[in-house]
Parts: sequence; C-alpha cells; structure tokens
Amino acid sequence: MNYKTLLLFSILMTGLTACKLDKTQPYNAGNDKPCDPDSIYFNKDVMPIIQSSCAISGCHGGGSAEDGVDLTTYASIIETGKIEAYNTGGSDLYDVITETDLDKLMPPAPADPLSAEQIALIAAWINQGAKNNSCADCDDEVFTFSEAIGPMIEANCKGCHSGGAPSGGISLTNYDEIKIYATSGALMGVINHEIGYLPMPEGVPKLDACKISQLQKWLDDGVPNN
Ligand code: HEC
Repeated sequence: MNYKTLLLFSILMTGLTACKLDKTQPYNAGNDKPCDPDSIYFNKDVMPIIQSSCAISGCHGGGSAEDGVDLTTYASIIETGKIEAYNTGGSDLYDVITETDLDKLMPPAPADPLSAEQIALIAAWINQGAKNNSCADCDDEVFTFSEAIGPMIEANCKGCHSGGAPSGGISLTNYDEIKIYATSGALMGVINHEIGYLPMPEGVPKLDACKISQLQKWLDDGVPNN
C-alpha cells in the first residue's frame, strides 16, 4: 500500500468507525444519554416486558430455560429467542408472542398475552436493529403517580402482579391497588430489598437508584394520585 492509499484508507476507516459508533454507541454506554423519542431502547422499553412476562422462574428465567430459551440477558434473548435484527418475521420470539394458535402463544394461559402496545414496542425494537441500547429513562425530579410511579410499576411488576392469578395474590394494576402496598411499607420494602421483604422485581437486578428515589419522594409526598 503506498502512502496515498494508506491515507485514504485510514480516512475511510475513521469515517466508518465514527459513523458506526454514532449509531450503535449505546452498547454498554450506560444510562447517561438522553432518550431519543424516535428510538426504542432495550433497557427501558424491551427488557422490562420480557422480565415481567417471560423471564420468570419456571419459564425462561431464574434458572429455568423452557425449550432451551433463556430470556434473562440481552445476549441470551438474541441467541435463544432467535432474534434477527430488522426482521420480525424471521424472529422466533416475535412469532410466539403474536401466534394465532393459542397452544403456541407466549406467554401461555393462564398468563395474559402481551398487550398490542407491548408487541408493537418489541416489533419496533427488532425493526430498529434489536440493539442493546439504553438511555437515561429516569429523572428523579419527576415523581408523580402518572408520570413516574404508575409507569414504573406497569413496566416492572404488572407482568406478574395482574390477571386472574397475580403472584402472591398481589395485584398492582391501578392506583388503589398500588396505594395499599405503598402505605403498608411493602412497596419500598420489596423494591429497595429491605430485610423482611422478598426482593422485587423477582429474579432480576434491583431497580436503579433513580427509580428508588422517585418512589421515596412520592411516598414522602403522601402517596398522591397525581
Ligand atoms: C417475575 C415475576 C414477578 C415480578 C416481575 C414481580 N413480582 Fe412481586 N412477587 C412475585 C411472586 C411470585 C411473589 C410471591 C412470592 C411468595 O409469596 O413466595 C411476589 C411477592 C410480592 C410482594 C409481597 C412480598 C412480601 O415480602 O411481602 C410484593 C409487595 C411484591 N411482590 C411487589 C412487587 C413489585 C412492586 C414489583 C415490581 C417492582 C414486583 N413485585 C415484581 C413475582 C413477581
């Protein structure tokens, strides 16, 4: 390679790398980037759905991998959920959540199927390349029930704590139900992994400090339906 080709080559490579970094940067980038409203993020949009509806002990998490499908990490979701980036039709995980044959539909009865909104989020994530991307999805200056607490519980708890047979007999689907456990201390107890409470969400890492801070501020505020 002569000097000119080498120069051209390095400029080209730098250009490519820069461009690539720009687009896929979120890989392990942490939660410090602001969320782009047009992007679907693995950390805040996809993983909570999978955690609460699929990566459950006895199913595809907590040491169980039914049918060889382990849905506890990004890598295992892509690999054993057989996800093909940009192709929902070629992705097994998408197939089973949209299956019309009720015997094959996931999650299986008596669990509720995923909502149309949850399915649309997973489809959009696959169509955007099924990336392991993340963004800062939490601001602890925002701690109202409608903007912070309700969505937090919906994303991280409702998969198990809803439907005809909610886990532990505890239903967390609306303000009145959530308020019972907020005022008893159980909500903070389980989320903050306090002694005497079962750590929640079950089987997955603790919610991040920002979410716990939002919850604390809402509790300090007197558990308002705001
Ligand atoms: C993967 C399923 C799953 C998810 C997700 C989950 N839970 Fe649970 N939860 C359970 C099960 C199962 C029990 C009952 C365990 C038992 O009784 O042995 C339980 C019990 C509880 C209890 C009673 C525990 C106690 O110590 O009194 C509370 C409160 C609770 N969950 C709140 C939550 C909250 C809040 C979230 C979300 C941050 C959440 N759970 C997410 C499965 C789950």
